[in-house]
Amino acid sequence: MSSIATTSGQSSTIDELLAQLTLDEKAQLLGGVDTWNTFAVPRLGIPSLLLTDGPHGVRTVRDEGGSFDLGNSHPATSFPTSATVAHSWDPRHARRMGAAIALESRDLGVHVLLAPGVNIMRDPRCGRNFEYYSEDPLVSGAFGSAFVQGVQGEGVATSVKHFAANSNEDYRFVGDSVIDERALREIYLRAFERIVREAKPATVMCAYNRLNGTFCSDHRELLTGILRDEWGFDGVVMTDWGAMHDRVAALEAGCELDMPGGVEHNGAAIVSAVEHGRLAPEVLDEAVRRMLQLVERASGGAVTSAEPHDPVAHAALAREIATDSGVLLANDGTLPIDPAAAPGSLAVIGELFEKMRFQGAGSSLILPPQVVTPKDAFDRRGIAYTYARGYRTLTAERDAGLEREALASAAAAKTVLFFGGLDDFEESEGFDRSHLRLGDPQVALLRDLLDSGARVVLVLFAGAPVELPFAEELAAVLDLALPGMHGGEAAAALLFGEANPSGKLTETWIRTADDSSAAADYDRGVVARYAESIYVGYRFHDKAGTAVRYPFGHGLSYTSFEYRDLEVRVEGDRVSVAATIANIGDRDGSEVLQLYVRNNDGAVFKAEQELRAFTKVRVAAGAAERVAVEFELGDLSYWDVAEHDWVLEDGEYEIRLAASAADVRLAAPLVVDRGRTSRSPYPAAVDADYARPPIGIPESFPALVGRAVPAGDPSGRLTLETRFADARRSLIGRLLLGAVSGRVRKDFRVAQALPESAERDARLKNAHFVLRMMPSMSLRSMAMSSGGAMPYHLAAGLAEIDAGHPIRGIRRILRGPAKPPATTHVGAGPTERTES
Ligand code: BGC
Repeated sequence: MSSIATTSGQSSTIDELLAQLTLDEKAQLLGGVDTWNTFAVPRLGIPSLLLTDGPHGVRTVRDEGGSFDLGNSHPATSFPTSATVAHSWDPRHARRMGAAIALESRDLGVHVLLAPGVNIMRDPRCGRNFEYYSEDPLVSGAFGSAFVQGVQGEGVATSVKHFAANSNEDYRFVGDSVIDERALREIYLRAFERIVREAKPATVMCAYNRLNGTFCSDHRELLTGILRDEWGFDGVVMTDWGAMHDRVAALEAGCELDMPGGVEHNGAAIVSAVEHGRLAPEVLDEAVRRMLQLVERASGGAVTSAEPHDPVAHAALAREIATDSGVLLANDGTLPIDPAAAPGSLAVIGELFEKMRFQGAGSSLILPPQVVTPKDAFDRRGIAYTYARGYRTLTAERDAGLEREALASAAAAKTVLFFGGLDDFEESEGFDRSHLRLGDPQVALLRDLLDSGARVVLVLFAGAPVELPFAEELAAVLDLALPGMHGGEAAAALLFGEANPSGKLTETWIRTADDSSAAADYDRGVVARYAESIYVGYRFHDKAGTAVRYPFGHGLSYTSFEYRDLEVRVEGDRVSVAATIANIGDRDGSEVLQLYVRNNDGAVFKAEQELRAFTKVRVAAGAAERVAVEFELGDLSYWDVAEHDWVLEDGEYEIRLAASAADVRLAAPLVVDRGRTSRSPYPAAVDADYARPPIGIPESFPALVGRAVPAGDPSGRLTLETRFADARRSLIGRLLLGAVSGRVRKDFRVAQALPESAERDARLKNAHFVLRMMPSMSLRSMAMSSGGAMPYHLAAGLAEIDAGHPIRGIRRILRGPAKPPATTHVGAGPTERTES
């Protein structure tokens, strides 16, 4: 029987503890006590757990009081962000990185790392894509699983997030992701499924949004039906920070832990529901049992290790992964650059050269002990170059003086290295981009440089694709993405040919936002219609014939690879595919081999081809390697909405070994004759509309989803679930937003007036983050996450007043926080109420 080594030094079985806990204590155990800590029961020796973010490093806030304080954390290694490490196509990197982060977590006393994020990159505008791996579920699942295994292998628990279908930021607190069952299973849940089955994460974090009408915290089918009953998840489900909706419904749905917690209303709701027979005591006990199991499992890991982690080794690992993840998007032969090129021949332009953007903004922000910018890395190597800043980040204003200086330095040089990308005002957790353009100052300067005839290499730092209308005129494009604290070293190693680029894209690089597979309905309102269904990313573009800037899986090398001698073997349910990869250039290099399977041509609509396996192989110059990858026949199944199950269809498929989704090198037929004859589970209108990727929102979309699609609330009133930005007709809403925004706007202005410094940038970024995120918050999300600053009774009262019930609202406010009724005996636990 399970037992907990409690803080009192004694070991109690979970059953014993359950029998001794009071109802109040049980309710409190299912919520945090502050932003990062769970509830402890000292009298029974039950310790509290420390939970903190992830994913590309561990962020522990210095303030013991449990504040959110993004800018004040203990130093930790800042690894490349998830979107970056995925470009390596080497899940071993995610595993090593996870293990390293776990060692740092242990040193900092962290029990649960809030990572990895495995949401699908539905649209490059999502401000948080830098924290996710891919538009493809196989890539997301492989990396997420490796990361979880790496972290948990070192005794630290993980929290796979955000479950599920949290694909935008602008509407994340209240949005409703309307998705058909098949897209949900094949695209949005698949990575979670693999991770749960394969890596057994200790916890899963439910998303803020609704999924098909029900908030994820209350979604029984999602949290119990699918997650536990089907996939066998045996850990704890916690809310995202402030994502709790109906506390009792959530418990019944399978959501145990309310974070950050401290919301009296929620604890009181549990107590009252049990006391009034609205919640079965067994349901509560089961949730508490799981929580105690988590305490037991996780509290062992955070003992400070005898050997503290090695920061130098972790920095080296961050550099290695960043180098392996750089993607050479284009090259006319200008790269690599000779590091000994004559002085004066190399002009470096762009602020990001000296102020590298190496991570994204929001809850994942790490304060690394040290940052190596490209400038540091160039200088260490003694490279001769001229430098002109060219533009400023964190402003949309052009600077004529800086531009003149940059053009002059380019005129005197043979090659221009332009360091560009996005800043934290443009891309962040908490809000989405409305377009994919680079900032005006960069675009204007690049245009002028190209018009002046300069040979320009663009080096990019950004968490997601950007528009490159001048791509054809550039000599080369090297994408470092958000490479972590040693990104400068990676940039230099790749630019000067010390390392050979081997990263490839895990997201299609579209030309403009209009080309997105989600363009029909992205960020248009509270109700997000996922009308593209399974046609996400390359699944859409391949079949629709979209002209993209760079296809999924694309990335160049300084050498070339030849693919030959394809061999396909089917043994039982396993398909093994082998080929020889020859390096026919004069540099050692690595190639990412992608195995797509072209789907059968049946009655059920499908993507043209889907990634089914991949691997990365290192091949010395002039050498050849035999490489094998495998997959299960069952992986070719689609989710059948009539049978609610995976179905493998008979038919002719095709194995494609490819260097990218658009660069198939070898192909062979694969005939499947052990499935069943193809037949569509859909109404004819759906078959017709979805035979090809739909343009716009097909009339048959409700038929595809299987229910009427809600319209959203256009009333403009302030309810508990209205974004402040949408409460146009509510005086209270406007006043509230104005009050919070007014204060932050003032902070912003004060920061703006400061002289240039890291301190000024940090203050500007913090203020901007809040300013941009506030409008998308709701009364409920504020009440659930503000640590008491916006108590629930006040939020609920304000909503009542706004709905035209002033007396009821004022009464609600005056009544104060909900107090659990003082009764005694309930359920399996003892009877007394604790006086807390
Ligand atoms: C984010 C989570 C994060 C949590 C705690 C939320 O706003 O969505 O990913 O783990 O905050 O920082």
